[in-house]
Amino acid sequence: MYDALTREIAAYEKRTPESAAAHKRAEKRIPLGVASNYRHYEPYPIFVKDGKGSKIHDIDGNEYIDHNLCFGALMAGHCHPAVVKAVETKLHEGTTFGMPHVQEWELAEEICARYPVEMVRFGSSGTEVTMHACRIARAATGRDKIIKFEGAYHGLHDTALVSVKPKEGEYGDENAPNSIPGGGGVPKSAVDNVAVASFNNLKSVENRFKQFPGQIAAIIMEPILMNVGLCLPEPGFLEGLRKLCDANGALLIFDEVKTGAKLAWGGASDYFGVKPDMICLAKSIGGGLPLGAFGASSKTMGLISDHKVFHGGTYNTNRVAMAAGLATFREVLTRENYAHVGKLSKKLTEGYRTIVSKVGLKAYVASAGVNGALMLYPREIKNYRDWTKIDVDLWRHYWFAMVNRGVLAQPYWWYEQWTISVQHSDADIERHLAVFEEVAPGLAKAQAERGMVTAAAGH
Ligand SMILES: Cc1ncc(COP(=O)(O)O)c(C=O)c1O
Repeated sequence: MYDALTREIAAYEKRTPESAAAHKRAEKRIPLGVASNYRHYEPYPIFVKDGKGSKIHDIDGNEYIDHNLCFGALMAGHCHPAVVKAVETKLHEGTTFGMPHVQEWELAEEICARYPVEMVRFGSSGTEVTMHACRIARAATGRDKIIKFEGAYHGLHDTALVSVKPKEGEYGDENAPNSIPGGGGVPKSAVDNVAVASFNNLKSVENRFKQFPGQIAAIIMEPILMNVGLCLPEPGFLEGLRKLCDANGALLIFDEVKTGAKLAWGGASDYFGVKPDMICLAKSIGGGLPLGAFGASSKTMGLISDHKVFHGGTYNTNRVAMAAGLATFREVLTRENYAHVGKLSKKLTEGYRTIVSKVGLKAYVASAGVNGALMLYPREIKNYRDWTKIDVDLWRHYWFAMVNRGVLAQPYWWYEQWTISVQHSDADIERHLAVFEEVAPGLAKAQAERGMVTAAAGH
């Protein structure tokens, strides 16, 4: 830690004593004092009181412009009136029945109109839907192995929890990365069934198909790697994966848990013009309620109809989440709102770029749809290994300095990115930029003094 960062953390502690106390109390009963490991960071996380529109308040009474937005699950913003109204109505009509209802068909129609899928099933989280997508791909091909990209996050099931954040000593060849379990409890058999490739490296994918002929069921991927800040696919990469899947009889699964809503009206396949075989959706399609969906062609989803693949879930299509989903598709994720957030995203991104270049910070600003990130690297990253070469303390300096001035610029963690909601305004973006303008010279100074420190990022 260096002086300027120490000062920002001291200011953070001064502003948030109630959060500190709440966290200390929670630690006794809840591991790390939080309900998801991602919510824990040093010295302690901010405890939230409430949120409305583009803003939240913590339990110390501080207000923040919120670009965390529940790790990108709230492109609707907090308490979007259409979502609140839809949910309120359903709360009085019964929340869950474990019986079919007509909203299911309605939401399936909305999804099939936007994404290149013919049939859909629903769940409650991203983890759930990527898990089912992998299982269906395995059943459809009669094969067990799945290719995933090093550094990619697809949730918490055994197939997904491989090589999420491998350490440098574990990497192996970048053209054939090692498969590393993302923590204890992931069975070796599961790890052995995940072949890891490097993002933006078609050769590494080709290698896997050659190494395991006739054994790869699918490639699961985020069309934009979002577990490393924001890493765009190079031209031809997605098209190359499509061809490799076709040539080898494997399915291409787009994990659009983040990109599905936050990239464009029709998600990544619309944005990039590449059609996957399966799509997984969650986060922002639910307007703040737990809702996931996976879809594919009628033939592939027919495996469920034919009782060849099992799918179920007590809380699937509970009326409240479905009402929120319908309101979100119909009244939040509209073409007009995409135009609105598109303008705000351009303003924020260009504003950051101007400030970065004015203060001489060696960094760039990545942006796609309503997602963006200040990337503290001299050159654009291409994959997970590039991403690890970040000055973590400089990033923490950025995050805490912004928070101390009332802007939650993105979720804590240098592998995350900001989200802009439909309820953000020009004034919010101007305030965000004004704060960054105040903070940026200190970042540039610290960076110049420290040089490019790149130790052990994200590990
Ligand atoms: C791309 C992607 N897939 C899957 C998931 C898992 O979603 P959930 O946290 O709803 O289980 C996430 C969560 O961050 C994600 O970003």
